[in-house]
Amino acid sequence: MSVIDDVKQKLDIIDIIGQHITLTKSGRTFRGLCPFHGEKHPSFYVYPEQQSWHCFGCNTGGDVFSFIMKKQGIDFGEALRELAQKAGVVIPSKFEPGAESEERQKLYQLNQAAALYFQSMLQSKAGEKAQSYLTRRGFLAKTISDFQLGYSLNSWEELKKYLMDKGYTEAEMLTAGLIIEGEAGKKSHDRFRDKLMFPIADARGHIIGFGGRALDDSLPKYTNSPQTPLFDKSGSLYALNLAKEAIREQGLSVIVEGYMDVITAHQNSFNNVVASMGTAVTEKQVNTLKRLSKEMVFALDADAAGKEAMLRVEQTSTEALSEDILPVVFRNKIVAFSNIPDIEVKVIILPSGKDPDDVIKEDAQAWQKLVKEAVPIIDYTFDMATAGLDLTTAKDKSLAVEKLLPVIAEIKDPIRQAHYLQKLARLVQVSERYMEAALSRLKIRPKRAPAPKPETAYLQPLLSNPIEDYCLALLLQHPELNVKDEELLPEYFESSQNREIFIARRQSAKIEELRERLDPATHENLDALLGKSLSPNRIEQKYTECALRLRERYLRGLAAKIEVVLAQEAESGGRAADLAKLKEQGIEVNSQLGEVFARKRQRQLEQRG
Ligand code: UTP
Ligand code: MN
Repeated sequence: MSVIDDVKQKLDIIDIIGQHITLTKSGRTFRGLCPFHGEKHPSFYVYPEQQSWHCFGCNTGGDVFSFIMKKQGIDFGEALRELAQKAGVVIPSKFEPGAESEERQKLYQLNQAAALYFQSMLQSKAGEKAQSYLTRRGFLAKTISDFQLGYSLNSWEELKKYLMDKGYTEAEMLTAGLIIEGEAGKKSHDRFRDKLMFPIADARGHIIGFGGRALDDSLPKYTNSPQTPLFDKSGSLYALNLAKEAIREQGLSVIVEGYMDVITAHQNSFNNVVASMGTAVTEKQVNTLKRLSKEMVFALDADAAGKEAMLRVEQTSTEALSEDILPVVFRNKIVAFSNIPDIEVKVIILPSGKDPDDVIKEDAQAWQKLVKEAVPIIDYTFDMATAGLDLTTAKDKSLAVEKLLPVIAEIKDPIRQAHYLQKLARLVQVSERYMEAALSRLKIRPKRAPAPKPETAYLQPLLSNPIEDYCLALLLQHPELNVKDEELLPEYFESSQNREIFIARRQSAKIEELRERLDPATHENLDALLGKSLSPNRIEQKYTECALRLRERYLRGLAAKIEVVLAQEAESGGRAADLAKLKEQGIEVNSQLGEVFARKRQRQLEQRG
């Protein structure tokens, strides 16, 4: 739950609004004189069940945040801070306005300064052994400079002292993960000592963290930056900045595990290669790549792909508009593959005991061939599930079907699903008609309980309002979409942070600008929306559809509110003028709803035609 939801949940809208105007209970609602327009007879209502308010006089409404913002003429962040105090919710300092963006800027600069320092140390006398290690591994001077490789001295404080002289504070270095806090009374010290240094950049080329390799066989082999405000190891891809153009051009990305693998690949002109840095590939990484190309290939090492590598299908959430990731777990290697019709995820199995670095160095053409012959992940799943089975026996046939049918049932694209159903039918030599029947039985069975999560986390379910989230994710991920007032208005969003994000998106479609405008407390939500997996097809139609759904939901809500008040007023003998006005508004809302329905029907017809 976000800090914003927490605040909202701990407050009662009646208390808060009641501190500003006098409310009288009236049936299921509370009623008062509207503070936003001059009136003598109250037409301002608060609905405790929905924790919302609406004025039928000036036709405005919203939640507790929008009331405070409007009443006090303050922005969302200020309202949040005021209400958080009332709710007794402490807002983490990282959400303080300005703190984050300034902090981030500083951290980027700090990382950049550290990278330059490591680079210069590699060129110094002390860096000679690192230089010769790189030579031994076959890296050329150009590669070393393209990847900004460096060396960290065998010392406890050289980097810290250098950066202090440059004006950075110890606190900043700790936050960036460049130094480690000293234990009880001891001084803090450099994290990376006597290591070959790999700066890790984001897609724009800003340095977000480092990997450091030991220059001998000592363990751990690699020391990496910890999780920092800039660096999320499981969400980042090494060398994305250097690979993104090639990935776009070739329509293909290749994901390997290691720093060395990427560097060797690029040195051999395989520029579409990035690394997951040893962890399981996450949904966030898949989403990043999906925006660049339609095809992605995962290089799996032979042991991970080994016989006992278990495969299971996890149930994705069943919410109406959730899309597109069907997670498959191979021990801890792959966690997800895209279930989007025109995205193809393939795997290559590396020769036993070798990683891409070895393969490419031995024979660049062999690598090219491997990539070219990569197998779609479902076909690979077939191979894994049937390895060691004797498909002439009845027992093994049913074992294979038991393992594979649930996977096939999850495939969304009907053509692809039919293809694999056919493949399975042939494999076990059972008629396709029988398979189809078995598949539909499986589909109507109640969903299994979700399997335990793999060790790598998916995006946390920060998002909880499916239609709103979907609509916003579309808008954020597709800056070309044009928001028209007749389609979508801020008041259609029930979630306060969604509403703020929507307003910012209306002002600018550029993510960086939009982030600047938004209160830091909404950034987590923004990132979750940006990371949401969406299919790339029919974007405009999908946007229009969900905008229509939001409009419908809003109008239905309003109609219900009018209904409640009308019933109350009729019962308590309210003023005839008020009743007439409400009825008129009810008619207006119903006619707008009628338009929404007509447009929906129209769209259905268009789609069929
Ligand atoms: P590898 O052990 O395959 O390393 O781990 P490598 O990149 O091939 O390095 P060389 O060729 O042995 O020198 C693959 C990746 O897993 C992460 C690193 O990102 C590494 O590149 N890793 C591995 C760690 O983060 N920590 C470790 O201790 C080991
Ligand atoms: Mn290696």
